[in-house]
Amino acid sequence: MTTATINHYDIDKAIGEIVEKYEAKPTALIMILQDIQKHYRYLPVDALKLVARKMNLPLAQIYGVATFYKSFSLKPKGKHHICVCTGTACHVRQAITVIDTFERELKIKIGETTADKEFSLETVNCLGACALGPLVTIDEVYYGNMTVTKTSKILDKIRTGSDGEYETEEETE
Ligand code: FES
Repeated sequence: MTTATINHYDIDKAIGEIVEKYEAKPTALIMILQDIQKHYRYLPVDALKLVARKMNLPLAQIYGVATFYKSFSLKPKGKHHICVCTGTACHVRQAITVIDTFERELKIKIGETTADKEFSLETVNCLGACALGPLVTIDEVYYGNMTVTKTSKILDKIRTGSDGEYETEEETE
């Protein structure tokens, strides 16, 4: 869902349901924002204003949380979210060549989304599975021991897959 498809009735209804699910508890703010991001694939400004109003919290507080955590985005993300680990273990195993491949194939830089809104590319410091480095997650599926060839193959599978379905098993080179 993109900005263009959001209308006031839908967003009011969607945010109302999410806030209600957590009984508008201020302690549930992060979970509320997580649900909103899952719904829209980012945090629309109008959604944050509605959260502030429905929870009776200052908008600045909502923005504070939304901008503090790297997992939240105020910009629309692609249908497929690619995250390349650049932690030490992955870095020494050439994570940079994996990033270069994604950037070249997708024609975007880290932090950007493709014009067709299909892919977003980001980095993360450590995904907690260092032995599998260089490690990438795509739509929360882990791909270990990434190489240039493997990167291209996975992208091809996602591009040609039906409705984003693709192999999740490890491939041998
Ligand atoms: S450094 Fe990449 S998973 Fe830990």
